[in-house]
Parts: sequence; C-alpha cells; structure tokens
Amino acid sequence: MEIKKFICLSLSLALILGIVESFEFKEEELESEERMQGLYERWRNHHNVAEVNPREKAQRFNVFKTNVQHVHKTNKMNKPYTLKLNKFATMTNHEFRSTYAGSKIKHYRTLRGARNSMLRFMYENATNLPTAIDWRARNAVTPPKDQGLCGGCWAFSTVVAVEGINAIRTNKLVSLSEQHLIDCETGFNEGCGGGLMEPAFIFIKESGGLAAEENYPYTSFTGTCDRSKIGNQVVTIDGYEDVPENNEGALLKAVANQPVSAAIEANGHDFQFYSKGVFTGGCGVDVNHAVAVVGYGETPEGTKYWIVKNSWGPHWGENGYIRLQRGVPNDEGLCGIAVEPSYAIKKKSNIPMNHEL
Ligand SMILES: *[C@@H]1O[C@H](CO)[C@@H](O)[C@H](O)[C@H]1NC(C)=O
Repeated sequence: MEIKKFICLSLSLALILGIVESFEFKEEELESEERMQGLYERWRNHHNVAEVNPREKAQRFNVFKTNVQHVHKTNKMNKPYTLKLNKFATMTNHEFRSTYAGSKIKHYRTLRGARNSMLRFMYENATNLPTAIDWRARNAVTPPKDQGLCGGCWAFSTVVAVEGINAIRTNKLVSLSEQHLIDCETGFNEGCGGGLMEPAFIFIKESGGLAAEENYPYTSFTGTCDRSKIGNQVVTIDGYEDVPENNEGALLKAVANQPVSAAIEANGHDFQFYSKGVFTGGCGVDVNHAVAVVGYGETPEGTKYWIVKNSWGPHWGENGYIRLQRGVPNDEGLCGIAVEPSYAIKKKSNIPMNHEL
C-alpha cells in the first residue's frame, strides 16, 4: 500500500515538474536483432506504451528499427543539431506527417486566398533591435503545451501570440484556451481538422475575447462550442497584422516586439526526432504546421537562430522548443518560417484601434 502511494506521488511529481528523462541508447543496442528487441521494450516501458496484438507489435518494431537507425546515423554526422528517440519512434514518417503536421496550412491558405500585402505593418520602421531576445525570459510565454492527436496547431500558434501580447501589455501571463478556438471558431477553421491563425485572431477580436485555459480546458477533440465555459476572465485583442511575407528582416522587427505566429514545414524525418541544437534542415518551405516565434539569438559560434515554440509537449526538442537557423539564403526562411507570420494587436488602453481587419 505504502509503496503504491509513493509510486503514484513520484509519478505525478514527475508529470508536474516535467522531469521525465529523455530516452538514451547505446550503439551496442543496435548490434543484433535481440538487442534491438530489448531496446524496443525499454522504449515501450519508458513511454508507457500499452500492450498491442502481436501483428501490430511486430509492425511497430519494424518502424522503430528504421527510426532508431535514422536517429543513430544522423547523430554521427556532426550536424549542428542532434536527434532523439522520442514518443514518435514507432510512427512512420507518413503517419507522423498526417497526424502532427496535418493542419493543412497550405490547403487552408489556398481556400482563403492570398494575404493582402498592402496592409499596414506597424513595425516597418522599427530600429535599434536587440541582438537577441527571448520572450520566455520576460514572462510572456506559458509552458509548452501538447496538441495530442488533433490537427489544432493553428489554435496553439494563435494562443502563443495572444498570451504574449497580453502579458506584454498587462504584465500578467495568463494561459489561454486552444479549445475555445477549436470548438467555437467554426466560421473558417475546422477544429482538429486544421486551420489558419488569421481567422482565429479575427474571431477573438469580434467575439469579445479568448477564454482562460483553466476555464475552457483542452480535450484534443473538436467539440461543440460551450459558451458557459468561456467565463468572464477573457483576454481581448484589438486585431492582428501580417508580417510582410518572405522577409526574415521584417520577422525580426516583429519578434523584437512580441511573440509571432508562423507556419513551417514540419513533416521531415529529422524534424520528427529533433532533440537539440540549431536545426539547419532538411526541410522545404511547403508549410503544413503552425508554431510561434518567441525569440531569436545567436550561438557562440555565430549561428543565428529563431526560438520557436511547438505544441508537441515538453519532451520534443529543447523542452518543447526548436531553434531554427535564421538568416538563410532563401527568402522564405528555413522550413518556410517567414512565409506567413502574423501577430495579435493589443493596445494598452481599451480604446479600439483605428485598424481595419
Ligand atoms: C514608416 O515611415 C514612413 C516614412 O516616414 C511612413 O510613411 C510610414 O507611415 C511609417 N510606417 C509606420 C507603420 O509607421
């Protein structure tokens, strides 16, 4: 009895503190089929994977072997980043792509039409930009969240931008509800089926604000809009603006001032298993996943990077974040980070801004 209680406590403590150790393996464990099988069991234990039927288990083992080899091979290449066997280790890249990079950003962009490049960009004349900024250190970013098996990254991306500008304007960091957007912004977006950030910003402005996470908690399913959950602790915004596209310089001006929503191509094999370091590719610019840029900096070796908040939980990447190489030769930025960034506007006062959406 006593032992059970203790295990329970330490488990929940581990969850609360997010101290689940990352999963490491040794080269010897890849040497034979038997040792690989042992590694697979160890990984299953580590991630508390439920028992499955023998056929499914054999198939998952095959996927696992392919992924282990990829992680191992890549980590021997001396790249500026390393990979790890994370919770995606038994997903084929195809499965991963359709589940976690399945927000079909490009599909929705085509449906919605091109962005209007004539709109105002309030930071166009921003000068004296800091050489580095990290909005996490300025208490404007909540801990990493996990979208689970739901293509709602557009909601997570939107929420980071709104939490950020709200914290900057009010000095209060409030965790906000993705589920409110997923259930209620049905005018354009399709919940866990995918969507875009701009309609979400418009929804927040026009419907009177976004609920707090604690009032309208995440379920990872598309549900029916429940107005009774919205409560009165809502965070309002005054609109949004697009960062001029394919322009990392413009993105820098925006991120120097607030966290910014962005889309990227996130389905690559290396992206799936990213562990740490500055990610330098491979990826294209065919954006299919939404994230948020919460800072930028430069390594001691002089590699410039964006600090990007993902929504795959704290055990992916650097505690839920990826550092993406900044200042690449193509205009779209690495993985398309500069293709279509946007951010929320919130004025200090409650007087609505003279800005047409
Ligand atoms: C930036 O400066 C130009 C030239 O002074 C001005 O016309 C423009 O309105 C400014 N943009 C913003 C967003 O303030």
